[in-house]
Amino acid sequence: MPEITLHVNGLEHRLDVPDRMLLTDALRQRLGLTGTHVGCEHGVCGACTILLDDQPVRACLTLAVQADGHRIRTVESVAPSEEELHPVQQAMRDCHGLQCGFCTPGIVMSLLALHEQEEPPGPEEIDETLSGHLCRCTGYRNITEAAHRALGCAGHAGPADAAGHEHEGAGR
Ligand code: FES
Ligand code: FES
Repeated sequence: MPEITLHVNGLEHRLDVPDRMLLTDALRQRLGLTGTHVGCEHGVCGACTILLDDQPVRACLTLAVQADGHRIRTVESVAPSEEELHPVQQAMRDCHGLQCGFCTPGIVMSLLALHEQEEPPGPEEIDETLSGHLCRCTGYRNITEAAHRALGCAGHAGPADAAGHEHEGAGR
């Protein structure tokens, strides 16, 4: 059984894992990071999205051994503190971009990657990113509003600030 080192949310973990263990299972079962959800387990729904070296990746399509030595961020690392949400999370909350919340961690991680990129994303890039996530509850409109608000996309559903101010028509 290979020993691997995972750098997860700023902490280093040494783990013995079976060759074929999925990264989702390593995160959820070995490290207790159950915020990374598992839906389809074949790369379609996006619920398992994490950041691997700052790039969004389907953890259900990644073996734990492939992440050896790499830097991983999961949804548990996103909020700056227990009292404060990240702007992406705040926008999801303000725009009612979730209902059951199953799809939400994956969406937050994909939007976080866009939020951190040097070049601000345009509306098409945001929509393209969201097209990689399935949601069974919301009908997507509020998720889209939240994403455009958080990423400061002018000319779309809401104000360009990502500070979580109320905005009209946000899924009420
Ligand atoms: S669980 Fe990974 S994409 Fe659906
Ligand atoms: S909020 Fe329920 S699946 Fe998206």
